[in-house]
Amino acid sequence: MNQQSKLIFGNWKMQLTVKESVRFAEALKVYEPNPKLTVGVFPSFAAIDRVRDALGDIPVILGAQDCFWEEKGPYTGEVSPSELINLGCSHVLVGHSERRMHLGETDLMVQKKIAAAQKAGLTPVFCVGEKYEERAAKQWTTVLTTQVGNGLDGIELSGTEQIVIAYEPVWAIGTGKACDPGEAREAHAFIRSLLVERYGTDRAFRHFRLIYGGSVEPRNIGSFMTDEGIDGALVGGASQKAASFLALLEAAAK
Ligand code: PGA
Repeated sequence: MNQQSKLIFGNWKMQLTVKESVRFAEALKVYEPNPKLTVGVFPSFAAIDRVRDALGDIPVILGAQDCFWEEKGPYTGEVSPSELINLGCSHVLVGHSERRMHLGETDLMVQKKIAAAQKAGLTPVFCVGEKYEERAAKQWTTVLTTQVGNGLDGIELSGTEQIVIAYEPVWAIGTGKACDPGEAREAHAFIRSLLVERYGTDRAFRHFRLIYGGSVEPRNIGSFMTDEGIDGALVGGASQKAASFLALLEAAAK
């Protein structure tokens, strides 16, 4: 991962069939790699291997939307981090708010997934963010302190491994109401300060990249890209059609 480039990750959620995912990956072949960007897509488990084949050698990171914390065993429906590596993934989303909300994923589960992903050699994309009521009650710093602290509990960093933290305020996801860039900047700076406190300045910058997610679209991505404290974007809706994802990449590279 190029430290200087901005990360643009597309979270396809459960929105595309395998066929649609493959068609999308093929459509990405027209994308001319730009050193300013590191691009990634996160298809559903069912589509990962077909998307990998369709992407061929174009420089697009392949990620999964979740993983389990054990490597093998009686865990019906789960997928291990090393199996994702075998499928060609280098990244995995962990703790997305939709999983926290619909599947009851807790900070402890998120922490175990981050540890397991890291152990297997995957880069976790660790999602955090406050709900609307929490922002309205001015509790967002408390929420982020808890989520970041619990998620990284016991996580050691050495060597070259990376963790991406995606700040995704829940009220901005899928609503068309992106966070104000000033508020996003403030939240990213706050998360960075938590990392500095925990790991020291050098490791907080060397091992972590912080990206924003929540209603990022071609029309507003520029306002997040120009901010030095924001290393990129995790995009849902606008990443789920090839034309809009390509428009997003073009806008991000300006
Ligand atoms: P959105 O989703 O871009 O549709 O708001 C972002 C996400 O859920 O990661």
